Amino acid sequence: MPHIAILSASVRTGRMSHRVALYFKQYIEQHEIATCEILDLQAYDFPVFHERLRLQPEPSAQVLEFAGKIKNADGVLIITPEYNGGYPASLKNVVDLLYDEWRRKPIAISTVSDGVFGGTQVITSLQFTLWKIRAWTVPAMFPVPKISEALDETGKAKDAESMDKRAKPFLDELLWCIEAKKRMQ
Ligand SMILES: Cc1cc2nc3c(=O)[nH]c(=O)nc-3n(C[C@H](O)[C@H](O)[C@H](O)COP(=O)(O)O)c2cc1C
Repeated sequence: MPHIAILSASVRTGRMSHRVALYFKQYIEQHEIATCEILDLQAYDFPVFHERLRLQPEPSAQVLEFAGKIKNADGVLIITPEYNGGYPASLKNVVDLLYDEWRRKPIAISTVSDGVFGGTQVITSLQFTLWKIRAWTVPAMFPVPKISEALDETGKAKDAESMDKRAKPFLDELLWCIEAKKRMQ
């Protein structure tokens, strides 16, 4: 069974996009698609980027742990809110921190907003950054609009049927890329 790291990018006080991370963890486990864990950037609370991990003389245990979890994951599912048309600094902070760990990593992106567009403006800039760092972004979208209404604090969907209906093909794309990469090794 593949292992998926769910990267919850929002560190904002009172954040809501984390609900999407909780939703996917439950969906993935219930449907026995993969093993998974949430990498919560609010919990890690990394300092603002000063240097890449490979050039840090004495990296913190937390940074090493985070890097190991990205490296060992077969795929990464990024949950990102949209802030002023882009993704949050907390996410750029960890993209820049690592290097080889991202290489050819299958990554699916779920964008979140409390408006009606579901954070879709984030996709262009985030895809480009991940492409630059040589990750493998999956060509599937999972925008979550109106997050405050769509999911409760535990990640339970108000309309579970339609959320689950969208989740399956989205995760299938990620799983396809994970399997394709496995066959190349
Ligand atoms: C700094 C900031 C900028 C925002 N910019 C946008 C935006 O450009 N587009 C949008 O649809 N929502 C925007 N929002 C509203 C967010 O979609 C909403 O707050 C959402 O809950 C953010 O995810 P979070 O709760 O995990 O931080 C912004 C929110 C913040 C805090």
